[in-house]
Amino acid sequence: MTSRSSLVLEGRKSHEWAKTRMRIIDRIIKDLSTPKALPLEGIRLGICLHITKETSVLVMALKAMGAEIALCSANPLSIQNDIACFLKDQKIRIFATRGESYKQYHDNMLKVIRFKPEIVTDDGAELHLMLHRYWSNNIVAGTEETTSGVTRLKELELGRKLKYPIIAINNARTKFLFDNRYGTGQSTVDGLMRTTSVFLPGKHAIVCGYGWVGKGVASRLRGMGAIVTVTEIDPIRALEAHMEGYEVSHLASACLYGDIFITCTGSYRIIRKEHIDRMKDGVFLCNAGHFDYEIDIDYIRSQDRKPKEIRPNIQQYIVKGKCVYLLASGRVINLVGAEGHPPEVMALSFANQMLSIVYLAKKMGSLETKVYDVPEHIDRRISEYALNSFGIGVDQSNGKSF
Ligand SMILES: NC(=O)c1ccc[n+]([C@@H]2O[C@H](COP(=O)([O-])OP(=O)(O)OC[C@H]3O[C@@H](n4cnc5c(N)ncnc54)[C@H](O)[C@@H]3O)[C@@H](O)[C@H]2O)c1
Repeated sequence: MTSRSSLVLEGRKSHEWAKTRMRIIDRIIKDLSTPKALPLEGIRLGICLHITKETSVLVMALKAMGAEIALCSANPLSIQNDIACFLKDQKIRIFATRGESYKQYHDNMLKVIRFKPEIVTDDGAELHLMLHRYWSNNIVAGTEETTSGVTRLKELELGRKLKYPIIAINNARTKFLFDNRYGTGQSTVDGLMRTTSVFLPGKHAIVCGYGWVGKGVASRLRGMGAIVTVTEIDPIRALEAHMEGYEVSHLASACLYGDIFITCTGSYRIIRKEHIDRMKDGVFLCNAGHFDYEIDIDYIRSQDRKPKEIRPNIQQYIVKGKCVYLLASGRVINLVGAEGHPPEVMALSFANQMLSIVYLAKKMGSLETKVYDVPEHIDRRISEYALNSFGIGVDQSNGKSF
């Protein structure tokens, strides 16, 4: 049994390690703070993100900029308990324990709501949606981290139900081009390998969805020797995958030969009964999309009420006499089976969060109720910070065109 104090120590070490890889976060604190004024002095922030070492760097940075914070998790299984203990030790109001039940997960969001935040940062829009249900008018604005969350908020906006302005962090180029693609690409393969120890060369990997996440996952799997097939519903993206040299196929055909299936769509029930029933014996099913509804888990569970827990995050089900391994209960494999994105990538996404939160704090009350993109000047500034931190320079235009 790990004691609380040793968890705090472990969490502190991981936090410090991530911080050394996320230097632009410190640079932003320095650039925005003066000895007399902190940019978020007294602002109440409600945060719902995956509780990882990189998130701890963001949270401590927001605290250093003067914010008061209440924090819960964007997923009950992605919480790193050492980080949660470290943050609690740093006097952050954190409501999250790995493996918390669905009810506890929702209760923890309610605790963040009771803290009466003025600005709310979410990943997946669960907290934003809950705030729309239990509306309290202290909320001034919000930010949203991921594609699926932005989709949900845009639906609210379209139906004229959105109640406060929200910045779609996901839509910044310094977010989706790097976090969704390279971050999820690397960490999904990491999650798959840590969980299963699978040898990838020669394995048929089926990547469902060739958006930013799918592109990253497909490229990293191919780099490790897997033979990748992409399935898509969007003809342009299917064509892109074809031109990139991947096999592109219907899932109805790919389900016959795939060894590993990874959903990357953000859409509902991509892998269904008609696919699962025809798969080979011993396939791995996993998901990199935000929600756990991309694989029809209810169907798999209905076929075998007593799955075998092979090891953490591998459940073996017998479906029509064949064995199906469901990884991480169909939740984000990169966060449940590994540690999420590398810190260098999260530095970009969280720099967007920091600068957008400061922007919202400055504009308090003056923005329209809609979903905004990250302002262009913030996006550019972050790419400059990042290049600088990697020691890379770029040329200046000479202002002449032919
Ligand atoms: N695991 C992580 O750390 C992480 C990080 C970033 C984003 N995400 C999540 O990953 C998901 C995908 O994000 P994205 O930025 O790539 O979105 P995206 O919109 O760029 O791509 C999704 C792709 O899936 C395709 N698609 C939809 N339904 C399909 C179907 N039935 N079959 C095949 N393809 C289908 C779409 O045509 C699109 O090309 C979202 O849920 C997002 O929130 C997860």
